[in-house]
Amino acid sequence: RKILFVTSELTDLVKTGGLADVSAALPRALGARHDVRVLIPGYSQVINSGHAIRTVGSLGGYAEIPGCRIGRMDMPDGLIIYVLICPELYEREGSPYGDADGNDWPDNPVRFARLGLAAAEIAAGTACIRWAPELVHAHDWPAGLAPAYMHWRGLNTPSVFTIHNLAYQGNIDMAQRRLLGIPAEACDPERMEFYGKLSLLKAGIAYANRVTTVSATYAEEITTPEFGCGMEGFLSMKARQGLLSGLLNGIDESWEPESDPYLVKGFSARNWAGKEANAAYIRDSFGLEQCHAPLFAVVSRLVHQKGVDLTLDVAHAIVEGGGQLAILGQGDHQIEHQVRQLAAQYPGRVAAHIGFNETDARRLFAGSDFLLMPSRYEPCGLSQMYAQRYASLPVARRTGGLADSIDDGITGFLFNESNVSSYRQAVQRALAIHQHPQLLAAMRCRAMGAGFFWRHAIEPYDALYRQLLGERREVRL
Ligand code: ADP
Ligand code: GLC
Repeated sequence: RKILFVTSELTDLVKTGGLADVSAALPRALGARHDVRVLIPGYSQVINSGHAIRTVGSLGGYAEIPGCRIGRMDMPDGLIIYVLICPELYEREGSPYGDADGNDWPDNPVRFARLGLAAAEIAAGTACIRWAPELVHAHDWPAGLAPAYMHWRGLNTPSVFTIHNLAYQGNIDMAQRRLLGIPAEACDPERMEFYGKLSLLKAGIAYANRVTTVSATYAEEITTPEFGCGMEGFLSMKARQGLLSGLLNGIDESWEPESDPYLVKGFSARNWAGKEANAAYIRDSFGLEQCHAPLFAVVSRLVHQKGVDLTLDVAHAIVEGGGQLAILGQGDHQIEHQVRQLAAQYPGRVAAHIGFNETDARRLFAGSDFLLMPSRYEPCGLSQMYAQRYASLPVARRTGGLADSIDDGITGFLFNESNVSSYRQAVQRALAIHQHPQLLAAMRCRAMGAGFFWRHAIEPYDALYRQLLGERREVRL
């Protein structure tokens, strides 16, 4: 079956978080069963990635949305990516969403309307690319208008919309409606109206045939006021109608501690020496004392969601308990500043690198004993899965995908309340386990074998697609 993924990030080309990993790995994992192609805006990072792009189609303008070309990029492993070539919208210095200072691009409504509309035009077969999907799978608010334009154009092609993070909603002024060619009927609370604005995220939820999110627990949480970000009523309705479900993410096969080329040295449950080599590298490059202290790591966007402020308060207990802490992250400038201050307070014991670095991220998962994830909410979370695979036990809040992917006391440590004392107790449990090498090794082995690979995690997606495509699931006896 032909399926089009619509996304704003893809790890091969441009990444700010887990959405990029899922957008890169899920189409490939589904590739054995379906012809899955990806549509992504042609940001500078994409255009200059070194992969050849040839023009295969073009799109006209609509309302204030400019026309553009469609390029095709064939990745070395065969994944086909359609690139929206529109320099005035996409080729800039900065992230997919804003400039280097973190300010959103003011024309984001047009930039991402262009993405959603392009998906609808490809689905309608009007983009001249000689390929049209039988199903469109759109991800997060940047792709939220894809199911909407498909609906407004009267297409029957089924669509799936996946919420990776409900807090990023792509809310725009009502006044932009005409510029984006959004019909008046859309300005309804049952559709994309949201507290006097128009929400691209809500458009995806409203118009897609099915809505998914990335863990079963988060799918339930978002129907409550605590996690619903104002959309809990609308989401509860979708849930009652049987249209909302939670499908846990997976990880790709590159997360292999014995052979990951990013690591200083590989390792396995039979030979931990490689793990220590990665720890030595981390201590050296971060400027931590070389020793055998329990090493805690943070690999995270530095934003409120991730509870980094709680880690700042718990750091004292880690140091007091004889531990060390290495932090890799970037994001909110204020949190970056606080993280730097913390490191200055505990030289040799706490260290931070502000920035984005794939190699160090992997070495941190491999070299650390524990990964800290005190998230206030976590739709799925991939870092805790990567950490487990690399025998670093997560210490995490029992929420969303963290609750669904960490077995408390067996593959990691969960705490219930989003506060310092609940978190500190979990850190102390981790410190205590570190004193018992046999228990630690047993937990590590369980964590490494947890088996979050996409080859298992694609099953519910496959079933959902087949259902929407009107196929009966093959039953093998
Ligand atoms: P989110 O998508 O909310 O940021 P996830 O845990 O799903 O959270 O995914 C985060 C991804 O981004 C992981 O692959 C993690 O390793 C990576 N990551 C986060 N911060 C950094 C960083 N500073 N450098 C390198 N990788 C990072
Ligand atoms: C979002 C969420 C994260 C999830 C990722 C991929 O960025 O914050 O929890 O793992 O998307 O689905």
